[in-house]
Amino acid sequence: MARRPIIAGNWKMNKTASEATELIKELKPLVKDAKCDVVVCVPAIDIPAVKKAIHGSKIRLGAQNVHFADKGAFTGEISTDMLKEYGVQYVIIGHSERRQYFGETDDTVNKRTLAAIAAGLIPIVCIGESLEERESGKTEEVLSKQISLDFRGVADFSKIVVAYEPIWAIGTGKTATDEQANEAIGYIRMRMKKLYPNKNVGKLRIQYGGSMNAKNCKGLMAQPEIDGGLIGGASLKAQDFATIVNFDK
Ligand code: 13P
Repeated sequence: MARRPIIAGNWKMNKTASEATELIKELKPLVKDAKCDVVVCVPAIDIPAVKKAIHGSKIRLGAQNVHFADKGAFTGEISTDMLKEYGVQYVIIGHSERRQYFGETDDTVNKRTLAAIAAGLIPIVCIGESLEERESGKTEEVLSKQISLDFRGVADFSKIVVAYEPIWAIGTGKTATDEQANEAIGYIRMRMKKLYPNKNVGKLRIQYGGSMNAKNCKGLMAQPEIDGGLIGGASLKAQDFATIVNFDK
């Protein structure tokens, strides 16, 4: 069975709540005929405003991180219950910016992923190699390590999303070619099937992320292994994000 495409915006640390409301207002009519799942992963403090703004549309709400404990002394963190109370359905986990700047490790990525699944949230787990790793021929080795550590204990891969985000393509305007992205995602799926047999990996949706935009989205989405996109910069402009969501038109 074909996997349903999923286009998600990662707003990162952009947009105040009032700016978020404006952006959603502009976006809503542009994505009303979307054939794919449409998600916006917004800053935590924007969640209440965006929940209101997306009402009655196909847009679904996502967060950018979640803690693995139910509650407790974890200053600055947000729990699964807090997200769910506001109708959040998706949560990005292990984005390379969190791994790079905030000490996120494969172990904490794994814990957050399992906690999200247990709470009924859909994690969008990010993996990908750096430029140095790609140039020294280590892409598969790096992906393979992340695959074996980040997804330990996941029972059903149809309940999660993976985003392949080569770090060298994030925010650089340097997109992976259609073939590079397809090849890496094909590799990820193949490794996953080997490592996690009988866990529904055939239904796992794998997105590409890294300078995906209104111009290159069609080519990337035409690749057989690519099931969607995780969009940074271009998700902050309603027209551009809508063009990506409507990649099939
Ligand atoms: P850009 O689309 O801005 O390169 O960001 C990609 C990304 O990191 C999405 O999570």
